[in-house]
Amino acid sequence: MSYQQEYQASIDDPESFWAEKAKLLSWYKEPENVLSVDENGIHRWFADGEMNTCYMALDYHVENGRGDQLALIYDSPVTDQKKSFTYSELRDEVALCAGMLKHQGVGKGDRVVIYLPMVPEALISMLACARLGAIHSVVFGGFAPPELAVRLDDAEPKAVLTASCGIEINRIIEYKPMVDEAFRIANHKPEVCIVLQRPQASAAMQAGRDIDWHEALASAEPADCVPVKGTDLLYILYTSGTTGKPKGVVRENGGHAVALKYSMTAIYDMQPGEVFWAASDVGWIVGHSYIVYAPLLHGCTTVLYEGKPVMTPDAGAFWRVISEYGVKAIFTAPTAFRAIKKEDSEGKLAAQYDLSCLQTIFAAGERLDPPTYDWLCETYKVPVLDHWWQTETGWAIAANMHGLEPMPVKSGSSTMPVPGFKVKILDEQGKQVAANKQGFITIKLPLPPSCLTTIWGDVDRFKSSYLETYPGYFNTGDGGYMDDDGYLFIMGRVDDVINVAGHRLSTGEMEEIIAKHPMVAECAVIGRHDDLKGQLPMGFVLLKDSAQASNEQIVEELIAMVRQEIGAVAAFKEAHIVSRLPKTRSGKILRKTLRCMVDGEPYTVPSTIDDPASLDEIKAQLGL
Ligand code: COA
Ligand code: AMP
Repeated sequence: MSYQQEYQASIDDPESFWAEKAKLLSWYKEPENVLSVDENGIHRWFADGEMNTCYMALDYHVENGRGDQLALIYDSPVTDQKKSFTYSELRDEVALCAGMLKHQGVGKGDRVVIYLPMVPEALISMLACARLGAIHSVVFGGFAPPELAVRLDDAEPKAVLTASCGIEINRIIEYKPMVDEAFRIANHKPEVCIVLQRPQASAAMQAGRDIDWHEALASAEPADCVPVKGTDLLYILYTSGTTGKPKGVVRENGGHAVALKYSMTAIYDMQPGEVFWAASDVGWIVGHSYIVYAPLLHGCTTVLYEGKPVMTPDAGAFWRVISEYGVKAIFTAPTAFRAIKKEDSEGKLAAQYDLSCLQTIFAAGERLDPPTYDWLCETYKVPVLDHWWQTETGWAIAANMHGLEPMPVKSGSSTMPVPGFKVKILDEQGKQVAANKQGFITIKLPLPPSCLTTIWGDVDRFKSSYLETYPGYFNTGDGGYMDDDGYLFIMGRVDDVINVAGHRLSTGEMEEIIAKHPMVAECAVIGRHDDLKGQLPMGFVLLKDSAQASNEQIVEELIAMVRQEIGAVAAFKEAHIVSRLPKTRSGKILRKTLRCMVDGEPYTVPSTIDDPASLDEIKAQLGL
């Protein structure tokens, strides 16, 4: 079927379209009520279907002849370890881990926070939660204790799973002291903390609360899959919003499984038995969907890579993994390719490996900038496909539907809306804009399966954040345009969210932290362009008249505060003390104007500016 036919079918009759796709999975009870509206007026998929995501991802394949096929390959250059699991082995490991959690009282609907590095236990414990009908919430290892504490308080988990350490290239990052600190500052105190002791660091254990992972596993009995409804939650994944409080994006079992299974053929052109590699981290949405769930739901082999694109040991690392395991499609963020390009611009390291298995390179997480796209095409000679998505959807909103009908690529575009997504570009008044004109990117309701149906515990915030700006539409927070051929160009966020090395961060949150410094009167944080990481945060800070320290010292303190509160991943390393902040007469800081000025992009100074000289002053101070 052509892309256009498939897309049109999904728009004309979404219920029949998705009911058909749902049949590709093995349900305990197939859904009859395909699309319904809940008590909050929100569309829900497959409400009366009964299933278990872990069953669909593991047991089903074992029962249907894939038991001896590899399910998971763990490759860890930072520990010099490699390990693989067949579907049977992985099912057994997951069942045992589920038994360990069950023994600790974890059951259907309970939350479990997972704060683990890229080790097999991360994937195993996510699937173990799914097996029990429990809801996991994975927290990325680069986040600091206060971020973990906010998630503990919001998700109120029964258990926390962690490890003694993670490894960043050659640095040991001790996780357990961070978990202890999060337990100390959080109001909600989980009953149990299960700790994976890694040889690289030994975690101090707190009697009565902490349990050794291996000891607990040794006495565990395997647990069976617990049936859940299609609308029961599989996980909560927190993502940055415009304020300090992250949003708990919820994902339902049914829609998630159906959408991801569909995506594996329609978007990624993968067949069961083939090897798929998402070079991301399980702490992010790409890791959830395409390291863990989608490849396994589809019967593929997935790769869990504990390393970096460079320095572990060199910029040939990705190509080594691809050739060693016969990876057919790789998926990562453009920043990873920019890091490789910086060190191996001629692709000499890649040339050392047999890459004949590699058929496609997929990029997402940030815009695939044309220079990186051109370089990838020239160097690796396979199709390079950008696709656009967010934590809120869990899969691509726009893509080149490679498994349906590969379309000509336009550099800088993520191609066309994926079936199910009615993408509309609106102006401030909510009117659709003409082709080639930039506006706010929205999706007409109902959203297709897998998209969030609320924010954990806060349906009002869900509605005010996403649904109220343009009634009848989901507001993505991204801006961009569609060209005459219907190709979508994502130009960046239109809110206080920035994208640093493919990591989504909130400048609003950074401002809240900086404003806590006793000498700071006011501040603005913007995301400035960076050749490697895409964007980097940059602060402008106005001090109180009473401030009594050197500017250098204050800047140092601010950088340390952001690192302590959010974590190293915030990469906040640049702040400027200014004597005035450019504002409108109504007091709104001109962040967008500042960003354009810093990035050397054209900008117009709004007529409502209160003090035009404030911009000139900053320009002179930064030597622009
Ligand atoms: N645990 C602890 N610390 C972590 C961490 C983790 N899981 N991940 C990152 N950090 C730390 C880093 O060590 C670094 O600390 P530093 O400031 O002390 O050096 C900081 O957080 C920033 O990390 P990062 O943004 O990753 O920068 P980097 O310079 O270490 O590496 C890249 C740059 C491009 C190589 C790296 O960002 C990368 O591989 N990106 C791939 C993108 C990706 O996976 N995106 C996910 C969505 S697809
Ligand atoms: P996250 O929720 O962490 O996946 O981040 C989602 C945000 O990343 C989106 O709202 C976009 O701003 C950005 N993004 C993701 N993929 C792309 C892409 N292919 N092109 C442009 N921006 C992207």
